[in-house]
Amino acid sequence: MSDFLIAPSILSADFARLGQEVELVLEAGADIVHFDVMDNHYVPNLTFGSSICKALRNYGVEAIIDVHLMVQPVDSMIESFAKAGANWISFHPEASLHVDRSLQLIKSFGCQAGLAINPATPLSCLDHVMHLLDHILVMSVNPGFGGQQFIPQTLDKLAAIKQKIASSGRQIRLEIDGGVKVDNIRAIAQAGANTFVAGSAIFGQPDYKQVIKDMRTELAE
Ligand code: DX5
Ligand code: ZN
Repeated sequence: MSDFLIAPSILSADFARLGQEVELVLEAGADIVHFDVMDNHYVPNLTFGSSICKALRNYGVEAIIDVHLMVQPVDSMIESFAKAGANWISFHPEASLHVDRSLQLIKSFGCQAGLAINPATPLSCLDHVMHLLDHILVMSVNPGFGGQQFIPQTLDKLAAIKQKIASSGRQIRLEIDGGVKVDNIRAIAQAGANTFVAGSAIFGQPDYKQVIKDMRTELAE
């Protein structure tokens, strides 16, 4: 697996043809599938649950499924997504009463564990749990909707988290989520991200292959 991973968010896919959309975006060169779960409680929007994840597995999707839980409470959803075939699971620390326990729960199912950090969430939430993290999902928009503008202050935040990761001595993926496009992906990578979620930038274009290729070109320069 290359060091830079492109993770299309199916939030912006055509839900009526979801299996086909996921197949198309993987054929177009995507590395992993980002799966935004919203509950109309932790965030003001509602998407899909674990049965859709299971349906994608039954359809034949073999790629890594990166589940981003924007739900409260989180633990019951961790279990159902792990059983439905999720590989990576992240949640927001504000949404769990016992962050360490929720991270351990993810790992108990053999999944990779992540914390999702909102634009106004202080980085102190990472203290004491770095040893449990496989990825950190940095939100560059407020969670709940696709198609929002990238918040530029996130670049400094990424750089600070990159340092924290380096001092932990652990291999932790640094994932960015929200407003990622061909024209800002290089700056985001320079700030330290290595995993790029993009919803509207990919599914909003007719040629998925071209967008992913353009993103990789930016990352290679
Ligand atoms: C927002 C979601 C994102 C979103 C990204 O709450 O977590 O994954 O789908 O969409 P774009 O790339 O359109 O900002
Ligand atoms: Zn997301």
